[in-house]
Amino acid sequence: MKRNRISAIDVGATKVCTIMADTNGTGALRILGVGVAESQGIEKNAMANTRNAAAAISKSISKAEKMAGYRCKSAYVGISDPEMSSLNNHGVISISREDQMVHIADRKRALEVAQSVEVPSDQELLHLIPRSFTLDEQDNIKDPVGMTGFRLGVETHIVTTAATSVQNLTRCIRHLGIGIDGLVLGSLSSAEAVLTEDERQDGVAVADIGGAVTDIAVFKGGSVCHTSTLPVGGYHITNDIAVGLSIPFGVAEEMKRKHGSALLPGETDDGDLTLTGGGYAILYRDLCEIINARVEELLRLILFRIPRTDSSYGVSSGLVLTGGCSNLAGIADLGRRVTGLPVRVGTPIVPDGHDSSLRWPEYATSFGLVCWKIRNQNVPDLRGQREGWRILPPRLLSYFSSRN
Ligand SMILES: Nc1ncnc2c1ncn2[C@@H]1O[C@H](COP(=O)(O)OP(=O)(O)OP(=O)(O)O)[C@@H](O)[C@H]1O
Ligand SMILES: [Mg+2]
Repeated sequence: MKRNRISAIDVGATKVCTIMADTNGTGALRILGVGVAESQGIEKNAMANTRNAAAAISKSISKAEKMAGYRCKSAYVGISDPEMSSLNNHGVISISREDQMVHIADRKRALEVAQSVEVPSDQELLHLIPRSFTLDEQDNIKDPVGMTGFRLGVETHIVTTAATSVQNLTRCIRHLGIGIDGLVLGSLSSAEAVLTEDERQDGVAVADIGGAVTDIAVFKGGSVCHTSTLPVGGYHITNDIAVGLSIPFGVAEEMKRKHGSALLPGETDDGDLTLTGGGYAILYRDLCEIINARVEELLRLILFRIPRTDSSYGVSSGLVLTGGCSNLAGIADLGRRVTGLPVRVGTPIVPDGHDSSLRWPEYATSFGLVCWKIRNQNVPDLRGQREGWRILPPRLLSYFSSRN
């Protein structure tokens, strides 16, 4: 059976991860190569220094290629951008045809109407995701084509990112001779890796807490209803420790990873324990107090982003934390206390028999990119350039026209 190759590159603030994989016609996945390289010198933002970023990306691709035994020609690429914005929009059209049957062209028209939003000239459309359709009184329709009715409505989730973020990332990867199969928002790819279908259906928020940013996505009824990015991540926790305890950043990072906890030392714990590293000595209690304060604040910011009605957040499956910072001891406990929601740490759901080194939260985005491709096997990249008021991206238009 013919196998289709898939490659994914996640350019993070602390590491770049490349995964090379393939699937057969039924979607069965084989992970063939994994390459991880430190994003050296990229402290606050993955693309802050493009030369360093290019070196790290190149190293991670070479490692994955060596393991897979073939060249990576193109890849799906994750993007996290604190300047991104998103909104839900809807469009309604009439079906004036005599038999009132919905055709592919009608679905396209409804999407065109839903996409008519003003996008500032410094932003680009990244995703236009149809969430559900309505036909007259019937709602929650996944695909209305072939059904009959008078009024067809569509609910969409629209994501835009800063044009410069997209340009810096894509230029950097293309300079390495790698084509881009698609750009995917970090939170959406992490969600692919760590959420179950039941959670998406019941309502869930996912927060990927990385080095520089926290990517958030909220799902209800099986589809995404909110995405956003906070400019806060593990870098800020480490920086607080370094400044608060007057120790070098590298020592603070080591202390955080080895001994840190999001919870304050309890009565049974020895808060007065002295920790040593890199020629410095600090108190365990001080370390935990600093981490606790920053993580509690971050959890409140995450909660603030989850859309809510007067009485509830509507995410009955709660909050799933992923990304490197979710390795922090006690983070799920603190999450439950701060948000009042069920909270768990999400690791990539990698099928049995595969590279178990990917079953860590920091690989949620990279593994999720592969899952994204599999889920959207037959759906083309919806991305298109936006300038002011414009209708559907040309590629999406041609997709719908070609299926007409
Ligand atoms: N065991 C641990 N305890 C606490 N923090 C940890 C641990 N392991 C990793 N981290 C933190 O996770 C962060 C890196 O996470 P991740 O690899 O998901 O980030 P990234 O994808 O490179 O960055 P970003 O998504 O912000 O661009 C770092 O700040 C690191 O300190
Ligand atoms: Mg990340």
